[in-house]
Amino acid sequence: MCSLMNSPTQTSAWTRLATLSEDLQDEDFRISHLFDESANRFERFSLAHDSLLLDYSKNFLTDESLATLIDLARECHLPAAIEAMFGGEKINRSEDRAVLHVALRDPDTPKQEVLDTLARMETLVEAINSGEWKGYSGKRIANVVNIGIGGSDLGPALVSDALSAFSSGSVDVHFVSNVDPVHLRNTLSSLNPETTLFIIASKSFTTLETHQNGKAARQWLLNSAQNEEAIARHFIAVTTNESAATEFGILGDKLLPLWDWVGGRYSLWSAIGLPIALAIGMDNFRALLAGAHAMDRHFQEADLEENMPVLMALVSVFYNGFFDCHSTAVVPYSQQLNRLPAYLQQLCMESLGKAVDIQGRQVATNSGEVIWGTPGTNGQHSYFQLLHQGTQFVPVDFIAFANAATVGDEEQHRHLLANCFAQSLALMNGHTVAHEPHKHVPGNRPSNTLLIEALNPYNLGSLIALYEHKVFVQSVIWNINAFDQWGVQLGKLLSGRLFDALSGEAPTQDFDASTRGLIDLARKWNGRK
Ligand code: F6P
Repeated sequence: MCSLMNSPTQTSAWTRLATLSEDLQDEDFRISHLFDESANRFERFSLAHDSLLLDYSKNFLTDESLATLIDLARECHLPAAIEAMFGGEKINRSEDRAVLHVALRDPDTPKQEVLDTLARMETLVEAINSGEWKGYSGKRIANVVNIGIGGSDLGPALVSDALSAFSSGSVDVHFVSNVDPVHLRNTLSSLNPETTLFIIASKSFTTLETHQNGKAARQWLLNSAQNEEAIARHFIAVTTNESAATEFGILGDKLLPLWDWVGGRYSLWSAIGLPIALAIGMDNFRALLAGAHAMDRHFQEADLEENMPVLMALVSVFYNGFFDCHSTAVVPYSQQLNRLPAYLQQLCMESLGKAVDIQGRQVATNSGEVIWGTPGTNGQHSYFQLLHQGTQFVPVDFIAFANAATVGDEEQHRHLLANCFAQSLALMNGHTVAHEPHKHVPGNRPSNTLLIEALNPYNLGSLIALYEHKVFVQSVIWNINAFDQWGVQLGKLLSGRLFDALSGEAPTQDFDASTRGLIDLARKWNGRK
């Protein structure tokens, strides 16, 4: 790993990339000219794996810059880092943990507990979806509410939403994450406690939001059931913290395990994925795992030059290092992938938002860009103006499915696809109108396109695993730990002190004048002063 050295900036590849990037940013250089110079650029700068094609040809990449980026990966010992992760080494050093989410989707997993848990999930899904599982009044479960946040929410919510066409039709799945009481209240407003099952999803079982919402959900149920015994029929927990879940009243076969070698934002493949399995059935959940596993195999086995996550990561490292890139837009041309950007924000920004390297030194290059986006075509009518004519350098990942989800929708879907391809074309080529500078579209703006044959569990599993591994490669090159999130802890700690101050149970004089002023005004408007 780069940790054996000081920083990627000390490699010889980095020095060469600095020179090459200057040439690529010369005002006469055009990405479109690369296509004029090479008739088979698309073939040479695209890569297929299963039913997923990555077209990375519309980038500031020449044969030389690409080869140098591959050299950078080698100088940073990427192959050894990949083996270390798959081999279960404790690469999350600040928490002394292995990182083995890949073992969750490996049919030959060395972890028997993974297979046991999948079998337990299957039993639960069968019982709930068949109606054999009854609520406290003897009615079958109609609605499942997942209470969790961050990795215990975003992945399952993304996948359940994206694959709604694969719904088993047995239960409706809902997601509550925000400590804002409105989230739970609005969700429960149309639900019947007799037919509602809650999943408390929390790796730690100490997360404030989940704790508060879990308590409120428990009370909502008890208000109706008037009997503590109802808890066992209406709550399931997924956690590493068995004792806290037991204290809540969830135990036995209602308590599914999680392990410290699964990071929260990498956990949708574990029992944290139970709401997905309930929504789409266990066979489809297994297909999701199979798609992710296929991407794992590709990542572990393909040469760096033909390795999809590696190529995506290297392009991003290039732009962050040399093109003044601070953000990447991810634009799925798919309403079903509405939640993908939010999911990727946690995956990428919680993993890569670090300013010190593994040895605790300041990183020497830009690392961890801002990830943002919304589905196309909607984005075209809001922020695309900035992408086309603004001053920022924002590479775009376009994601599209070749086929419509529903028979009969082919023509409208073709409009969707046409718009997707039109945007990457316009970003690259631009448009010049003589004497009308306001109409000038500069072009020369890079993008990747991920074209996928169809949206199904297998392909979605591959897509998500692709981004997971892309993030890992970036972290290896930047020599940072992608698997901790110490920055998040500070806010959690402070919110407890602020809560006490707002409640009038702790003095405010230790806070700065701004925080004190806000507390005082909120208390006044609360009628507490
Ligand atoms: O936001 C910080 C974080 O620790 C995430 O990494 C995690 O996914 C989320 O909180 C929820 O944590 P838990 O599953 O322990 O409730």
